[in-house]
Amino acid sequence: MKTAVYPGVFDPPTLGHLEIIKRAAGICDKLVVAISESTNKRKTAFSIDERKKMLDILIKDMDHVELVSFSGLVVDCALELKADFLIRGLRSGVDFDYEIQMASANAMMTGIQTIFLVSSPQYTHLSSTLIREIAACGGPLQGFVPDSIVEYVRRKN
Ligand code: COA
Repeated sequence: MKTAVYPGVFDPPTLGHLEIIKRAAGICDKLVVAISESTNKRKTAFSIDERKKMLDILIKDMDHVELVSFSGLVVDCALELKADFLIRGLRSGVDFDYEIQMASANAMMTGIQTIFLVSSPQYTHLSSTLIREIAACGGPLQGFVPDSIVEYVRRKN
C-alpha cells in the first residue's frame, strides 16, 4: 500500500491545487494532504482552521484522501505518516528551481522521493497571492478557486 503526502500552505487552495490532489489520488493508495500551519514567506491570510475547512470541503467526496496539518519540517510529517513519497505540483520553470532544491534536501534528510505532477496549462497562471489580490478588490473568483469555496474566500476579504 503506497501512501503519498501532498504538502502545501494552501492560503487559499486553488483550482490548481485541486487538480494536483485529484491526479495524485489516482497514483497512490492513500493520499494525505498536509497543510503547513505557517509559511516562512509571510503571515498567512487564512488561519489554519480556515484552510482546513476549505480543504475539507474539497476532499469530502474523495476516497482515500485525508487531511492533516503540521508544523516544522515536511519530512518529519511524512515520516510520522509512514509516507512512501511526496507529491508536488510544477507550474513553470520558476517552480522547478525552488522545488528541485527542496526535493533534494528532503531526500538527503530522509531518503524520501518527490514525485512532480505538471499542472495542466489552464492552471499554470494561478497562485494563492493572485487570488488573495482579486478577492481583496472584489473581483470574480470563479475559474481561480473551486466553486465550492468561492463564497468562503470572498467573505474573508
Ligand atoms: N496550482 C496553482 N497554484 C499552485 C500550485 C498549483 N498546482 N502549486 C503551488 N501553487 C502556488 C500556491 O498558490 C502558492 O502561491 P503563493 O506563493 O502566491 O502563495 C505557491 O504556489 C506555493 O504554495 P504551496 O504549494 O501551497 O506551498 P509552499 O510552496 O508555500 O510550501 C511547503 C511548501 C509546505 C513544503 C513549505 O512551505 C513548508 O511548510 N515547509 C516546512 C519546512 C520544510 O520542510 N521546508 C523544506 C526544507 S527542505
